[in-house]
Amino acid sequence: MESRARCARSRSSRPHIWLLVLLASLGPSSAGHAQGYQLWLGYRPSRNLARMREYAASLLPMVVDGQSSTFDIVSGELHDALESLTGRDFVLSRPPPPKPQLVVGTRESSSTIRSILAAGELAPLGTDGFVIRQPLIEGRRVTIVAANTDVGALYGSFALLRELQMDRPVDSLVMTSAPRVKRRILDHWDNLDRTVERGYAGRSLWDWATLPATSRRYVDYARANASIGINGTVLTNVNANARVLTPEYLAKVAALANVFRPYGIKVYLTARFSAPIEIGGLTTADPLDAKVRAWWRAKVDEIYRSIPDFGGFLVKANSEGQPGPQDYHRSHADGANALADALAPHHGVVMWRAFVYSNAVPTDRVKQAYDEFTPLDGQFRSNVLLQTKNGPLDFQPREPFHPLFGAMPKTAQMIEFQITKEYLGEDTHLVYLGSLFSEVLKADTYVRGPGSTVARVIDGSLQGQTETGMAGVSNIGSDSNWTGSQFNQANWYAFGRLAWDHTLTAASIADEWTRMTFTNDPVAVRTIVHMMLVSREAVVNYMTPLGLAHIMGTTHHYGPAPWAKLARADWSPVYYHRADSAGVGFDRTAEGSNAVAQYAPPVRNRYADRSTVPDSSLLWFHHVGWSERLRSGRTLWDELALHYQAGVDTVRAMQREWNSIRGSIDEQRFTQTHDYLAIQEREARWWRDAVLQYFQTFSHLPLPAGVEPPAHSLSYYMAIRCPRDEHKPRCDGIP
Ligand code: GCU
Repeated sequence: MESRARCARSRSSRPHIWLLVLLASLGPSSAGHAQGYQLWLGYRPSRNLARMREYAASLLPMVVDGQSSTFDIVSGELHDALESLTGRDFVLSRPPPPKPQLVVGTRESSSTIRSILAAGELAPLGTDGFVIRQPLIEGRRVTIVAANTDVGALYGSFALLRELQMDRPVDSLVMTSAPRVKRRILDHWDNLDRTVERGYAGRSLWDWATLPATSRRYVDYARANASIGINGTVLTNVNANARVLTPEYLAKVAALANVFRPYGIKVYLTARFSAPIEIGGLTTADPLDAKVRAWWRAKVDEIYRSIPDFGGFLVKANSEGQPGPQDYHRSHADGANALADALAPHHGVVMWRAFVYSNAVPTDRVKQAYDEFTPLDGQFRSNVLLQTKNGPLDFQPREPFHPLFGAMPKTAQMIEFQITKEYLGEDTHLVYLGSLFSEVLKADTYVRGPGSTVARVIDGSLQGQTETGMAGVSNIGSDSNWTGSQFNQANWYAFGRLAWDHTLTAASIADEWTRMTFTNDPVAVRTIVHMMLVSREAVVNYMTPLGLAHIMGTTHHYGPAPWAKLARADWSPVYYHRADSAGVGFDRTAEGSNAVAQYAPPVRNRYADRSTVPDSSLLWFHHVGWSERLRSGRTLWDELALHYQAGVDTVRAMQREWNSIRGSIDEQRFTQTHDYLAIQEREARWWRDAVLQYFQTFSHLPLPAGVEPPAHSLSYYMAIRCPRDEHKPRCDGIP
């Protein structure tokens, strides 16, 4: 604690030294790549000198009126940021200046804040919320950032700095904000050997070999998360290794928890269900066995002795070969409750995943979670959250929302998004996921009539749950730009912002991120935001338009492989698209798998009826004839082909837009994105050509006017192999 406080103080008195140290520590070869390391926290001085003067006159001198390691962080952050954003060097004086212009603190820590805000004004904001106000104090307009806790003050300070980074006028710095969900969590699918499942940004950040020794990188990770309100991190892969629960590893986990704590971030771990056998020496992991329950209790007590604010466990059980309670003929509720009972005395929670893929091949894979979990509604302990992926299949470019949302009114439900782009072009394709996240959050389940959005299920306002949360599978790794590409940073950012406030729009978040990350130049901002906003539909179009899904390579999930058949049918693209000479698409109506029945009646009817199902979900719910006419008047075949072409065209338009802003941002980040867009354009063509040629073997129809002829034969594309474990180059033979 003490050393961190010292570190924050010394940082505040030696501004920017940390950045130099960091660049030096990256070494000469990688220092060139450090552009991007700062994420959205670069605090570029404004080009608008009047604005800089306004900030200096209105916000300096400042005082952080409170003492704790978190307040030290607030001081250091505000000091460094304001020096850069105002262009003034200053030292943080102790005792504080007599007439501060900016005061940050809590009612408890600051007499100024006590004199301005009544207890009742702050109380509704809870532990994490904050207000920014500009009262008159002794005739001066003073800005105050106030919260109930020091972490709330940290969030408020980052919110203030966001406004300044966007060049906003000082009188717009008034806000009241509190997060809509309690647990805003990054799930790292990181293994103890530092590989990252579905990670495309280097190795795991967690250097288990050197931990419990810590490094600046962990601090910077915590800082970035705190700046967007993320307050939890699951360190380990859902395909869990029980060793992380051994004393040796728990000491390492405790070291990370110590770094993260002053940033308001709790550590969680994945719990392998068979841990009592693997590291506990028991012969069973049956959740109703007294010895097993005692083992979990003792293990949890041990964890809390070194990590008193440990968040709890995330569990993947009886899915894709992972052990679970069903191995002992017990239910998911029995399994979750055994762990929840051990955690309850310490106020920890269990996040039990609803992503269940059993070994038996079902008639329709997407039905399994609903069928398995809805009968258990009401059986979970109050400290269990059911963590459900946004859609019923597996993080596709587009899926309808998961039918479990709203279907378990007596169960707390978290949503799980995937920030890492497993099925959306990994690191190289520019795809802004704010659009995907907010499309799902806004989707209306109708379980309690119109307005029963997924977001309102998740935030508890629809069905009254008090345990609430949102998880995002992290895209962060050891790469110096954190996420493998500059634009993947936006997806981390967007997840955090939406977890804090799901009413924010994808567009406004893209605008914030662009201004903070790149520039406030209006033309460049407009251009970049536009690229981001069209990018998600582009990837849907060139990968899986009109409701197609899971036609990517069967293990790497990178390139197209609609022809692939695996021994395990329900992992095979052919299982999902069902193309034949009659048409294409999965019939999920009452005549087919009837998955549509899992939705509330208004949604069910809309999806089940060919005349009302949105084109974007058409082939998800219906098997449609190649020559059938769609809403547009065009045949399915023509529409499909034109969607693939539109995907390619949008990427080309993005390339032109990006080229048009050359010079508005630094050359290094410009060039990486430029080069990655070229990869994306090539691979969009690869998708279009491969999928259309394959489907043409069923439709026997010519490509419509406006669709470019394929560059290669189908057999050429089928010969392309994408090795699973090699990061780059991923697929040989891409044209
Ligand atoms: C997908 C992904 C796996 C992951 C799984 C999960 O299937 O490809 O790597 O383990 O999701 O969410 O558990």
